[in-house]
Amino acid sequence: MQAKKRYLLLFSCCAFLFFGYFGYHHFKAHRQSKWHHHLSSYSEDSDLLQDEDISPSPRFHRLSDSGGGGGGGGGGGSGGDTRDCRMETCFDFSQCDRGFRVYVYPIDDNVPPSASYAKVLNAIRESGYYTSDPSQACVFVLSLDTLDRDTLSKEYVRNMQYRVQRLALWNNGQNHIIFNLYSGTFPDYLEDLGFDLGKAILAKSSISIENFRQGFDISLPLFHKSHLEKGGEEGFLESNKFPGNKKYLLSFKGKRYVYGIGSETRNSLYHLHNERDIVLLTTCKHGDSWKGYKDERCDHDNAEYDRYDYEVLMRNSTFCLVPRGRRLGSFRFLEVLQAGCIPVLLANGWELPFNEVVDWSRCTIQADERLLLQVPEVVRSINASQMLQMRQQTQLIWNRYFSSVQKIVFATLEILADRVKRSRARPLSVWNSDPGALAINFSFSDYLPHFPFYHDALGTAPHSRYTAVVSVSHGGSGPIHTTPLYRLIKNISKSKFVGKIVVVWTSPQVAPPESRLPGGSVPVHVVVPADPSPSARHAPHPLVTWDAVFSLDEDVTLTTDELDFAFTVWRTFPDRLVGYPARSHHWDEAKGGWSYSSRWTNSYSVVLSGAAIYHRYWQHVYTHQAHPSLLAAVTTTANCDDLLLNLLVAAVTRRPPIKLTQRKQYKDPASEAKWVWTEQSHFQQRSVCLNTFVSVLGFMPLRHSNLRLDPVLFKDKVSMQRKKYRQIEKIGS
Ligand SMILES: *[C@@H]1O[C@H](CO)[C@@H](O)[C@H](O)[C@H]1NC(C)=O
Ligand SMILES: *[C@@H]1O[C@H](CO)[C@@H](O)[C@H](O)[C@H]1NC(C)=O
Ligand SMILES: *[C@@H]1O[C@H](CO)[C@@H](O)[C@H](O)[C@H]1NC(C)=O
Ligand SMILES: *[C@@H]1O[C@H](CO)[C@@H](O)[C@H](O)[C@H]1NC(C)=O
Repeated sequence: MQAKKRYLLLFSCCAFLFFGYFGYHHFKAHRQSKWHHHLSSYSEDSDLLQDEDISPSPRFHRLSDSGGGGGGGGGGGSGGDTRDCRMETCFDFSQCDRGFRVYVYPIDDNVPPSASYAKVLNAIRESGYYTSDPSQACVFVLSLDTLDRDTLSKEYVRNMQYRVQRLALWNNGQNHIIFNLYSGTFPDYLEDLGFDLGKAILAKSSISIENFRQGFDISLPLFHKSHLEKGGEEGFLESNKFPGNKKYLLSFKGKRYVYGIGSETRNSLYHLHNERDIVLLTTCKHGDSWKGYKDERCDHDNAEYDRYDYEVLMRNSTFCLVPRGRRLGSFRFLEVLQAGCIPVLLANGWELPFNEVVDWSRCTIQADERLLLQVPEVVRSINASQMLQMRQQTQLIWNRYFSSVQKIVFATLEILADRVKRSRARPLSVWNSDPGALAINFSFSDYLPHFPFYHDALGTAPHSRYTAVVSVSHGGSGPIHTTPLYRLIKNISKSKFVGKIVVVWTSPQVAPPESRLPGGSVPVHVVVPADPSPSARHAPHPLVTWDAVFSLDEDVTLTTDELDFAFTVWRTFPDRLVGYPARSHHWDEAKGGWSYSSRWTNSYSVVLSGAAIYHRYWQHVYTHQAHPSLLAAVTTTANCDDLLLNLLVAAVTRRPPIKLTQRKQYKDPASEAKWVWTEQSHFQQRSVCLNTFVSVLGFMPLRHSNLRLDPVLFKDKVSMQRKKYRQIEKIGS
């Protein structure tokens, strides 16, 4: 017996080691790829190309190219007038009377967009603002790639002046947005795009305050070619330990230009480097001809530089220096933000990305290049609580507006949309707090307590009643008073918090008269939607007025206590889906896709809307903000509405749903039996749905949780009299 046990132990140790070994390698491979990503981006390769290696005379190119246009900066104006463009003077608001709609020109096959610009155009086409009809459009976006206007770049599109003027809808650029990441070239990196933008709005990175037309242009972040199109990588902040000092107070690792624009600041950094808590490392090695320009510190600096890893340094630093490069912005800005390292900006005159709406003072230190030597003192004066707040804010801003190209583009469109419907513009508090402005649609309401997100900040609470929405899709035969629906309504009507009961009738059977349903003193309404899709139960309805919607299937078995307990929990977590039956998803390596399962596991990621409570805002999101192809998938499969709801909520909240006290049996035995023969295909279909949804969204938003909430004193050995939810005790497994 003993020997057997020992073998068992040995075997499990081996299994563990085996797993550990492969697990580690898997992990390592992942880390390395990440590291490479950062290394390459950090090398700022587009800069490298145009550094010392080549010394052309760019302005000649530009002149011959633009045919006379492209004088000054942002406006690129031929006349002085567009330099002073304001929305009031250069934008035609009357084109937006029918709503804020964005049109994208058809692709010209002779000049296809670069990979990055293709991501930008995809994002616009997938946004809720897109229109394919130019006569409906308020704003126009070129399919001609304007991202890289460095004349030495492979992606530079020639003859732009001629090309835009040939466009029938160009209208001197009015109501157009021009996207740009790079402009100018060695040696002076001017901000001119090399063609006359006319009255177009310029959405550009590395733009200087001098050229930026306040309230008209939009400053973009510089993002790398490998920046994800959708979804986006998470911020790296994992814990909120307090005080949150990291190993290094301030760090930097990057190139140093020995001469020329942007070199001054980087050349002075060594004054601050102390090898203890301030680690500022530069290398002269970049380009092919660096040796020719080498100064006396280069060899020492290069050696010191090689001793530190870029990402380890960044993750272990409280503050990270973000000095200007040749241009004002750099990839480093987003990398540092993602890493949760508080950026210390050294780029005088840089108009920060989305400065119009993002409150950068809450997550960056904006230092003056000329006062470099004061930087250590400034960062040492930030106290621990401020530091933690700033670090958390870096993650919010990264996750909401910068982690994918889609978010960057959506933020750009939302800024414009807010300008166009000024009376409905979202306040800065919405932009700078979770879940961010991209998730907030004021068509729902412009009163913040109507949303599930702001109660804590505003000191308000969700309404104290809920609407029970019971979905009837099969409908029973026989007398109504014997059906499960009848019994369920009876239980609901006894709830302390229910305000009204709405029965959404999508069954082909004839709906019973309202008077036959046993609501007691609670009003009962029967609604027969015109379109009997499974989505009907999640559609906003004038009868659904209170914050909470308790979504129920006709054949679910719930006691009054379970309803009341669920609502009480939900009021604490009003932005989450809170419910009873839970399911899970996982990645199926063999099938190469996501898989959905109802197996009992130690975690879950979905709660079924057969017995779940959620905020009415999600009905608006589900019905008006979900991509039409998502809703179409629900209609064609006549299934999966609850999966879609879970995905949409998770995409916004970035959190899992909440599961309540376990119940072994969620449907009664009779209706469970009905599922048995279809079970296999039912789960297959739901897996198919899941994969469809994920491919449309472009990422998997669901998150796992292993939290379950039970009432206090649940199953404890105390008198039943002391317990608040006694019925739950009796039915809970
Ligand atoms: C911080 O630095 C230590 C080594 O000093 C390293 O082991 C650790 O992985 C670093 N942390 C991060 C998050 O990179
Ligand atoms: C930290 O600094 C902030 C801003 O300077 C200040 O409001 C706050 O009171 C300080 N907190 C502590 C604990 O000193
Ligand atoms: C109604 O509540 C009772 C307990 O009070 C429970 O036994 C019954 O199953 C519930 N019925 C339905 C249809 O939820
Ligand atoms: C906001 O909601 C309205 C409907 O109320 C919808 O028409 C619009 O497309 C939504 N906006 C976005 C960006 O999803």
